Amino acid sequence: MWMCPTPAGEQCVVHPQEIKNKMLLLNPLFLLFVLLLSAVAGATADEPDPCAGRRIHIRSLPRRFNADLLRYCSGGDGDGDADGDAFPLGDPSAAATSVPPCASLANHGLGPRTHPRSRSWYRTHPRLLEVFFHRRIQERGCLVDDPAHADAVFLPYYAALDALPYVLRPSLLDQDESARHGVALADHLSSQERVLSRRHGHDHFLVVAGSAWDHSQPLQDRPRLWGTTSLLRLPALANFTFLTFESRTWAWQEHALPHPTSFHPASLAHLRAWLDRARRSPRPTLMLFAGGVSRPSRPNIRGSILAECANRTDAACALVDCSAGRCARDPGRYMRPMLRAKFCLQPPGDTPTRRSTFDAIIAGCVPVFFEDLAARAQYGWHLPPARYHDFSVHIPKEAVVFGAVRIADTLAAVPEEQVRRMRRRVLRLAPRVMYRRHGSAADLREAEKDAIDLALDGVLRRIRRRTRALEEGSPERIYEQEDDTIDDDMHQEWQFETGASLLSESDYYILTPISALRTALHYHCYEKNEAVVG
Ligand SMILES: *[C@@H]1O[C@H](CO)[C@@H](O)[C@H](O)[C@H]1NC(C)=O
Ligand SMILES: *[C@@H]1O[C@H](CO)[C@@H](O)[C@H](O)[C@H]1NC(C)=O
Repeated sequence: MWMCPTPAGEQCVVHPQEIKNKMLLLNPLFLLFVLLLSAVAGATADEPDPCAGRRIHIRSLPRRFNADLLRYCSGGDGDGDADGDAFPLGDPSAAATSVPPCASLANHGLGPRTHPRSRSWYRTHPRLLEVFFHRRIQERGCLVDDPAHADAVFLPYYAALDALPYVLRPSLLDQDESARHGVALADHLSSQERVLSRRHGHDHFLVVAGSAWDHSQPLQDRPRLWGTTSLLRLPALANFTFLTFESRTWAWQEHALPHPTSFHPASLAHLRAWLDRARRSPRPTLMLFAGGVSRPSRPNIRGSILAECANRTDAACALVDCSAGRCARDPGRYMRPMLRAKFCLQPPGDTPTRRSTFDAIIAGCVPVFFEDLAARAQYGWHLPPARYHDFSVHIPKEAVVFGAVRIADTLAAVPEEQVRRMRRRVLRLAPRVMYRRHGSAADLREAEKDAIDLALDGVLRRIRRRTRALEEGSPERIYEQEDDTIDDDMHQEWQFETGASLLSESDYYILTPISALRTALHYHCYEKNEAVVG
């Protein structure tokens, strides 16, 4: 065994077998390097086209589909003063219907800086991701004016902002209006049939800053569910790829994007300074929950967490009260406690995914999931689904709610070295889920792909696969669920981690104590009795 110093100054152990493995991996890599060097030296004549397969055309849309929608911001300073509010009915505590304050429009939708001297932190409203994505795609290379030369077509439609009238404007609240979300866009696009028909719309994509569930109510459903629309159900848009915060179970129309956090660095130095801070931060708190802290009436995982934390008087559990919009646009409120916590609990709320998962990753707080829908089944372009046991903890929610499993006991049993290793990997993943600032320094753009770069890579891969299926005359392949997750990349990368051998599946089960097995049995009986699960 060897001892080696790591960048964090910790000691680590390398097994001789791993050194052998590394050398085996190094050899072909070294050859590749030599090949690349010679390629660079002699390749000025026929350089590969850096935009091959990556050309995007941005459709120009009338202002009513984007810029005009920004008037839906809510004026005043959030103190209830309705001056200039387009939608004074907006309830700032309800994410599905919250109206971004006008101040949030600053910095192309990142919002104002948290503090005049803050360099990377903004008061970001998630719904404005549509605006920010539009800005970022404009500064990307490989844009083309002629859609005939494009591999993909981006629609700068601010879909979730355009959904607001259907849930907030009294005249549109009743009847069948919410089935009309997106109909005007469909009409406009069909008036320029040429671009659309080239690939039956399979090369079009857009961002919807919301959950796919909220925009996929069947058109004919009556009564209409409050707070939902049928955008994804419009036949004219059926072949487009929608980038949403959360996808449905059979997600052939959409793909999930990380929820935006408040961290938007503009240079590599700023990113590194933050990651260093998160790496060094002392973490006296075992686990933290940021969210609504009122006890739910039915038994569920959030209720169990609150009950467990209410019992603790020591530093085991920290609660950050985010009810009534308290955490909206005030990242300091939860980021500081997250920096001091080892584990951040991610129970499902109204929907399975939460922004807090990404805040935790940025803070180097190891996420604890209670169901796969919370992230593993969603963010395959950004976080490697097969490697969740390397950087997160999974405790089945049934084991906690209906069994004897205590979250704090389970987490306290994870060896310190393993926590540190998971934290290193969480921080390694952080750049992939953050949205870097527009107009950022070249060193940052070149060093790390951020959430938008990875989303565009994913969209282009998906569209290429569908276009090929069309060209090859096998349209049934269009609707296949592809597996284009990033597992392989991360696997290779983590092979090179100093001394940190990859956790095996068996390590993962160590995290579930014996009592979980007992609980699993309980749960089995429970299901048999067909009781209603809360
Ligand atoms: C969607 O794609 C299918 C298969 O390519 C095609 O038959 C259909 O016409 C397309 N729908 C629209 C609205 O273009
Ligand atoms: C809280 O403490 C009480 C009394 O010690 C105990 O009976 C109960 O099981 C504890 N609840 C949780 C969730 O730990």
